Amino acid sequence: MRLLSGMRPTGRLHIGHLVGALSAWLSLQDEHERFFMIADWHALTTSSDTSKLPENIIEMALDWRALGIDFTRSTVFVQSDVKEHAELYLLFGMLTPMPWLERDPTLKNMIEDMHLRGANYGLMGYPVLQAADIALYKAEAVPVGVDQAPHIELAREILRAFNHRFSLVFPEPQAILSHTPRLPGTDGRKMSKSLDNAVFLDETPENIGRKIMQLVTDPKKIHATDPGDPDICSAQDYHKAFRPSDAPSADSDCRAGRLGCVRHKQYLSEILISYLAPFREKRAALKGLEAQTRELLVAGGERARKAAAQTMAEARKAMNLQFP
Ligand code: TRP
Repeated sequence: MRLLSGMRPTGRLHIGHLVGALSAWLSLQDEHERFFMIADWHALTTSSDTSKLPENIIEMALDWRALGIDFTRSTVFVQSDVKEHAELYLLFGMLTPMPWLERDPTLKNMIEDMHLRGANYGLMGYPVLQAADIALYKAEAVPVGVDQAPHIELAREILRAFNHRFSLVFPEPQAILSHTPRLPGTDGRKMSKSLDNAVFLDETPENIGRKIMQLVTDPKKIHATDPGDPDICSAQDYHKAFRPSDAPSADSDCRAGRLGCVRHKQYLSEILISYLAPFREKRAALKGLEAQTRELLVAGGERARKAAAQTMAEARKAMNLQFP
């Protein structure tokens, strides 16, 4: 079975990326044939500022390497390095009725987020481009965070439409969703670099401690001995994500007024600091390996192009687009 996933190079990775998608990528590394893509064109749908793009691409690749993604055993590449993505995107655009896009809730949220700056035409095609990413490699498994599920569903519909209208070229992809629900940012809102509420993977121990202390807990729990509601506590969300084994006992201690928020957060900082320590070490050891990493991405691009060119030839043939 072939597996593909991607991520937009929008800057430093945070623990939300890890819990949402990357942990699934890592756990699936020994099975399947794998494609991991840096989705630079997708990044342009919400910002046409490309000044940091080359740097962000390399930083993301280094982060992936530090996490343990093996660039020789998986095909890791940059989307814009494989022009076939643009061709298939254009063709899929002709098979995608507008209402399908209008009812994609994740796309709707992105358009609403862009309200002040103004959403562009390219953003409307975001899921269509994502469908092309998946289809080009005939991927059947797509490990992503839950927010991506609507895009994968839309991709399935587009591929079904293609197979039905022309001939059976594309398998229908399955989303592989991570089981950990989305981690909130330190202020309780969605974790995002731009909201300044993210805990980055390479955060120093001091910063981890400082940020964990900011986590929003049950507002009704004022004193350490007050009973609290862990269901509305971000610290407990983090606890469940990073140390599930003793999260239930923290849950009952909190409800019984035996666990104060400060002590809980101190414990959580320790967990997170030791959880992220190996990453920080490996990431530091990769400093200076930018050129080598770039070469690995170029090699990955070559392998990806071969697979993409083959699929594209089939798609053109199915669509009677081989002229003469
Ligand atoms: N939209 C994905 C995200 O924001 C990134 C992405 C682009 C992707 N193309 C993909 C994910 C193809 C899976 C498959 O996280």
